[in-house]
Amino acid sequence: MSGFVFNEKPIQIERGDGAYVYDDGGTEYLDMGASYACVPLGHGHPAVQSAVSEQLEKITYVQASYPNAERTALYDLLADTAPDPIDKTWLCNSGTEANEAALKFARSATGDSKIVATMQGFHGRTMGALATTWKNKYKKPYEPLIGDVEFVPYDDSEALDEAVDEDTAAFIVEPVQGEGGINPASDGYLEAAREITEDAGAALIFDEVQTGMGRTGALWNSQRAAVAPDMITAAKGLGNGLPVGATLCRDWIAENYGSHASTFSGGPVISAAAGATVSTVIDDEVPANAAAMGDYLLTELEAAIGDEVRDIRGEGLMIGVEVGRGANAALKELALNHQVLALPAGRTVVRLLPPLTIDESHADAVVDAMAEVVE
Ligand SMILES: Cc1ncc(COP(=O)(O)O)c(C=O)c1O
Repeated sequence: MSGFVFNEKPIQIERGDGAYVYDDGGTEYLDMGASYACVPLGHGHPAVQSAVSEQLEKITYVQASYPNAERTALYDLLADTAPDPIDKTWLCNSGTEANEAALKFARSATGDSKIVATMQGFHGRTMGALATTWKNKYKKPYEPLIGDVEFVPYDDSEALDEAVDEDTAAFIVEPVQGEGGINPASDGYLEAAREITEDAGAALIFDEVQTGMGRTGALWNSQRAAVAPDMITAAKGLGNGLPVGATLCRDWIAENYGSHASTFSGGPVISAAAGATVSTVIDDEVPANAAAMGDYLLTELEAAIGDEVRDIRGEGLMIGVEVGRGANAALKELALNHQVLALPAGRTVVRLLPPLTIDESHADAVVDAMAEVVE
């Protein structure tokens, strides 16, 4: 028997420590992808490890229809830290489920069906989230998907204004597109999206699955943009490696959510992990480090390879380097010759999503490696 979905890479990772992972032969790699952005605090962070171990000693799972202290504490923490007036949370296991819930909640709360989404956007691989994802590569084999989805160019307020109408349930958007190539929204776009959706009575959903947890310099990118959407979806780094997703929403959404539910919603182990992660991100001022290290990395990359590559762009520690040739060849060279692990974003972009706790020495190491790779 063997799995058949992931293309396995020729490195067997056995353990991790901070920004590094180690293969079965003991070779050390700098994890500049934070394992799909899932470990904002780095591998094996003691606060998360002990919260999980302590919870495992007590009970692994509590039926979701009973309250558990860890989940209640996580609800409170997320309510306290989300942009006002967002203070309700639905918990699940992944980013796609968080978006799936957001789309269902929007349809139920508005009574409308149309969803507006963006070109190059990525929201997940279950049928609803997939229908709002742009690339045919992900969608074609599974059609027909859910209907009534209209795509608009990203970062184009006029096109959005034309598309959002009285039949629109929601506009779903990444504040910085990740999978689509690291495309930050320009100033004013998210504010315009707020105004346009509000006027139409549609829900505004920020997919912060990749931008959340401090990656772009604030716990939520929404806070940097000073826009409070109706829903924020999160996953990836929320449990520092444990599978947990969240749909944060305003009261009018929560009060009309319909009948959505899930067996594993907010189990105590993943809630303990997420609680410890969010608290540590806030207490250790991790978003500020992400902002400072992001600026440093962008500046150093620009100085070292700005003339060799097509573009370097990003926000905080969400950085894309558009290389002239296929990103996969560059990624392979980075991993095998320089022991630096990064991610692709489309065919031409090398994506850096390191742990948010990195310092200048980690940034310098990746700049040196990139300089040799793009030479
Ligand atoms: C912006 C965004 N939304 C949703 C998802 C889907 O998350 P998951 O893979 O946990 O289902 C991803 C995953 O890459 C993502 O980057």
